[in-house]
Amino acid sequence: MRLVCRRAREFEGEIWIPGDKSISHRGAMLGSIAEGESELDNFNICKDCSSTLRCLRLLGVEWELEGRRLRIRGGSLKEPQNILNAGNSGTTMRLLSGILSAHPFLSILTGDSSLRRRPMDRIKQPLEMMGAKIFARASRYPPLAILGGKLRGIEYPLPVASAQVKSAILLAGLFAEGKTTVFEPSPSRDHTERMLSYVGAKIERKEGISIEGGGRLSPLKMRIPGDFSSSAFFIALALLTRSHLIIKDVGLNPTRTGFLNVLRDMGAKVEIRNLREEANEPVGDIVVMGGELEGTKIEKDIPLMIDELPILAILGARAKGMTELRNAEELRYKETDRIRALAIGLRKMGVELEERKDGLLIKGGDTKGAVINSFGDHRIAMAFAVLGLASKGETVVRNAQCVAISFPEFFSLIKSLVGEAISQSS
Ligand code: S3P
Repeated sequence: MRLVCRRAREFEGEIWIPGDKSISHRGAMLGSIAEGESELDNFNICKDCSSTLRCLRLLGVEWELEGRRLRIRGGSLKEPQNILNAGNSGTTMRLLSGILSAHPFLSILTGDSSLRRRPMDRIKQPLEMMGAKIFARASRYPPLAILGGKLRGIEYPLPVASAQVKSAILLAGLFAEGKTTVFEPSPSRDHTERMLSYVGAKIERKEGISIEGGGRLSPLKMRIPGDFSSSAFFIALALLTRSHLIIKDVGLNPTRTGFLNVLRDMGAKVEIRNLREEANEPVGDIVVMGGELEGTKIEKDIPLMIDELPILAILGARAKGMTELRNAEELRYKETDRIRALAIGLRKMGVELEERKDGLLIKGGDTKGAVINSFGDHRIAMAFAVLGLASKGETVVRNAQCVAISFPEFFSLIKSLVGEAISQSS
């Protein structure tokens, strides 16, 4: 599928964004090991979260989805009779590996060609220190074979700031003997900690994050807030088309919203309203008033905006002056090498830039339509669709079906705002 985009006119709108993907994955997993029936409203029914649900079913978990409401009966997991396929989802593979490491049976996990190129030694190493046996291709890549069993608590300084690695260790720690503590080089999204403590696990946050083993989880009942990372594409669209947009009921956990701080540095007018807390997570409305942007330097708190860096690069390409992104080498290990994919696509759209090992130096200005390859990466596809909607001429984003990995509603929602300016073709 291709997305065909032309310059969109200014619009005014109020939208809701589907449930947060990170929280949906964690909700399904915690629900599967809690005691009793969990109920999650506004579950994100994207491809990645469906991969988690499919794996859980193979592990003997009973769940049903009614629209966006997920009911899940927790209990003990059973040895899967077949290979667990995490599809494109790093979160499914890494977090589930933490849980499976504590279960006394054999699990084999694989994924699509993108996931099979992503490093898993970052979870293999700490989980083996806890007592699991894990085999990986070239000791590093999926498929993974996990023989779980009795685990012991560890103290582990994370070599890279990664919420997926931190979460895998904390989830294993839930079943381990004694206390498990992880130390982060810099804070990353903390949904796992918040959700675990919401359902009764003993979590302590000091210099490190600790979990006491042997805890029991009560069922999880929550409404999942709108996905901030998906909202970022709409915030950017409103800014670039000088529009007025309200996005309701979005998750505003400060470990996710580094993007908003950078936007303020760039001179964007973005406000938060109705800020409140629901199920231990901050939620509110985002109000965007489009206008001129200025280039900036992005080098601090990278994990707090890791998934928003592609759309930030797009905004940099349209801002006045230079935008510099540094300390973001982790982007090279995402669904595709996002630094490379951005450099290739932006150059095609007429942007002058320098590609660096850990980021990009982008000269802002006008952009022109081009044929763009998403490299099968949902966030690259959505980022360039937004740029296409602000550029001269026609932009075609090829291989755009991957958008459904995190956000199947992206096209219809954007169309409701910009109409004819976007269309789909096969
Ligand atoms: C995620 C953590 C981040 C992020 C990913 C989702 C999570 O990955 O990029 O989209 O749900 O924990 P890393 O932990 O590898 O940085």
